[in-house]
Amino acid sequence: MNTLSHITFDLTPGSAQYPLDAWYVAATSVEVGNTPLHRRLLDKPVVLYRTRDNLPVALFDRCPHRGYPLSAGILVGDNIQCGYHGLEFSPGGGCELIPSGGQTPAGMKVRSYPVADAWGWVWIWMGDPHKADREKIPDLGIYGFGREGWFVETAATFELRANYLLPFENLLDATHITFLHNGQIDTGEVAGKPLEMVVEKERILVIRRIENELQSPLTMRTFAFNGDRAHRTITAEAVPPNLCGIKVELEPVEKSAVERQINQLVVAITPQDRTNTLQFTAVAQTFPFVNPRWREELRDLLNEDVAAMEKIQALHDSIPREEAVEFGIHADKGAYRARSMIARMLRDETTSPSATGEQNA
Ligand code: FES
Ligand SMILES: [Fe+2]
Repeated sequence: MNTLSHITFDLTPGSAQYPLDAWYVAATSVEVGNTPLHRRLLDKPVVLYRTRDNLPVALFDRCPHRGYPLSAGILVGDNIQCGYHGLEFSPGGGCELIPSGGQTPAGMKVRSYPVADAWGWVWIWMGDPHKADREKIPDLGIYGFGREGWFVETAATFELRANYLLPFENLLDATHITFLHNGQIDTGEVAGKPLEMVVEKERILVIRRIENELQSPLTMRTFAFNGDRAHRTITAEAVPPNLCGIKVELEPVEKSAVERQINQLVVAITPQDRTNTLQFTAVAQTFPFVNPRWREELRDLLNEDVAAMEKIQALHDSIPREEAVEFGIHADKGAYRARSMIARMLRDETTSPSATGEQNA
């Protein structure tokens, strides 16, 4: 629980509430096309598709006639046609056609959500539509996306049976690298290194610098330089409520043609509901993707986190709430700061209620 003035929020990893007033990633841009795509996002059924002009559309995935899923229908031009009785709805959600005739019932429309393509992903705003500002879609340019000399690829999407706060905090916590990933991306030094936390207005950075560190085989395959010792800086970053980054900067100790290189993982986290989460990943590098198996190896590595988060969730769900206590240690500083930022976002939504009347209950 987290309390801000008189309002209490559940921010327990395992059942934490999520803000509605935020841009979340709904899908990769290539997933959304001219076949309706169903997604459960923020506890709502959503159908995604593209118009003939290639613009993304997101509608509440339920026909207001008799409740058939719109995603089970087909596209007719820019409209979606319900597969039950053929009613058609426009990208704005208005009813455009009733094949069996008669008047359109007053108020019969489908909720349409603001959506936009950016950085290889389709972003959706499911909170108060009056607050949806496309300028507020996170700028992934700061991570190297779209920047000259950088190499950027979208990577795997994960579906976790876990509350969104578990992966969000996991990514901010580099101390688990030494244990959960056991030798995969370090040789045992990360957990014991001091951390520096930097809090900016909308983001938290947790930085560790390790001098003259023996690198793991996977790190060597990713960065590909001669020798196996390097100075490494790991910056874990969180932009509440849903964006995380892990930046690894490597400088070889031995003289080599390679100088400082950066590998930046970006993860967008989208709650499907309180206990299921989507996790979209992308990588930006200052050097080419030299490891031919980088996708599989990154997926396998992140699947270790997914398995751990699912174990924590399953345990959380199997015991009474009063037994699910947690104690914060020094290394959790960043995570606790992130929680208080999310609590502030929730409070802002509660004190300025959504114009649609929908609440994150
Ligand atoms: S349920 Fe959609 S047209 Fe009847
Ligand atoms: Fe991890």
